[in-house]
Amino acid sequence: MPTITIDGKSLEVAKGTTLLEAAQQLGVYIPRYCYHPKLSIAGNCRMCLVEVEKAPKLMTACSTEAFEGMVVHTASDRVKAARRDVLEYLLINHPLDCPICDQAGECGLQDYYMDYSLAKSRFSQADKVRRQKRRAVGPQLVLDNERCILCTRCVRFCSEVTKTSELCVVERGDHSFIDLKEGKALDNDYTLNIADICPVGAFTSRDFRFKQRVWFLKKTPTVCLGCATGCLIEAHHNENTIYRLVPRPNAETNTWLCDPGRLTYKAVQAGDRLVKGVIKNGLIDLEPALREAAARIDEARAAVAVLGSPWLSVEDNAALALLAKDALKTGNYCFDFNTEQGIKDGILINKDPAPNTNGVKLVKAAHGGLSLEELSRRITSGQVKVVLAEARAAGFIKDALKAAAPRLIAFASNRGEIPAGSYATLPYASYFEVPGTFLNYQGLRRRTAPSVEAPEGVKPLWAVINKLAAYSGTSLRLDSADEALKGVRS
Ligand code: SF4
Ligand code: SF4
Ligand code: FES
Repeated sequence: MPTITIDGKSLEVAKGTTLLEAAQQLGVYIPRYCYHPKLSIAGNCRMCLVEVEKAPKLMTACSTEAFEGMVVHTASDRVKAARRDVLEYLLINHPLDCPICDQAGECGLQDYYMDYSLAKSRFSQADKVRRQKRRAVGPQLVLDNERCILCTRCVRFCSEVTKTSELCVVERGDHSFIDLKEGKALDNDYTLNIADICPVGAFTSRDFRFKQRVWFLKKTPTVCLGCATGCLIEAHHNENTIYRLVPRPNAETNTWLCDPGRLTYKAVQAGDRLVKGVIKNGLIDLEPALREAAARIDEARAAVAVLGSPWLSVEDNAALALLAKDALKTGNYCFDFNTEQGIKDGILINKDPAPNTNGVKLVKAAHGGLSLEELSRRITSGQVKVVLAEARAAGFIKDALKAAAPRLIAFASNRGEIPAGSYATLPYASYFEVPGTFLNYQGLRRRTAPSVEAPEGVKPLWAVINKLAAYSGTSLRLDSADEALKGVRS
């Protein structure tokens, strides 16, 4: 365990620790472009140069291991001069795109120029090397080669993380540029991470480009519900609109995000978002829709069946259990989901497409219920006249629904989710709009946080269930989502 001194402070570090990592442990920030904690070390940008006593030249902190007795200076005059020189070098050929560049406000060149340079360029703008501007590379990304500083993070991401190796550096010297390898398209499941790790505006997201200046965005820490992995994310939003999702790197679950997960926010503001009820394919206001559904429930009572859903929060599943057990007093309810789980691509995407299979198990443990097979059997036999189910979960019993055609009252956020043959569909607020508890495939508790407000009149599902109970002549008296959790270990 070598002991080293950085800027006058000593610390002992594990063998193999680099100077950049050691400085980080001391809270000393060393600027970097090519270094990324989850990629191999390239040591090509020279932004991390530091002075090591007795070494003849400055050394790259990202690739130099700490050795016993090293004395390192990260802010000496020599280091400051070197940083200015590196920035001047990188900016020789960089275009002056900042006013129209999406990276402005979170750009490594802008930030470091302000922090470490502020020098006037000695090179004329007319002499800049011109490279190809904005071209679409794959379904999610645009590449602007003129802005690239050749840190190769993007190349390493594709060869080391996705192992798809679509990118390479071609040509030599100041003619070098990033390109697609012959015959390759940048269309793997993780391409938007490249826009995140590109330290400048060379790779940008086609979805996010020109939508919003980053300094207007508010950031809400929340969870991706695109599958059972339950990646931690930040939703970036402004004036009640979500503009992008980015990862919240953490040791347990994720450094990156998959592209489908990143785009899950689109359903919240999609054109088919449900803000009214649907009765037999016709849109009607929420209150009459609720009353119609409740009347059908009241008619059937003990012949009502309630199905939980691995796409709903623990709280909303618990409210459904209470509706069945306490309000309707029916034994026809089911919280029995056993989808196989595990990372299916070696990176993040889960075999289980639902975010809360494990959370529903808590509700089943507290309230019991039928197996999926038994519920399907009861529906098929005709004993069940009305089924209440979240739209996607209805797929688990689709054969029984088709065979016996009971009245299906579905809960859905978007019109595209409505199961064929639904009698009534009631909208509910998305988990980008209301809090909810989920348990990911590792059993880790994940809590969503509201980033935007639900459309007017659209309520959290537990509140919709509460109203259904009241309008069907029974009662739940839930005042909050947490009240539904009585008896559920969460
Ligand atoms: S495109 Fe971005 S990530 Fe790739 S080498 Fe250039 S600056 Fe680095
Ligand atoms: S792996 Fe799953 S949880 Fe993670 S970003 Fe993708 S869809 Fe979302
Ligand atoms: S961060 Fe060390 S050389 Fe680029």
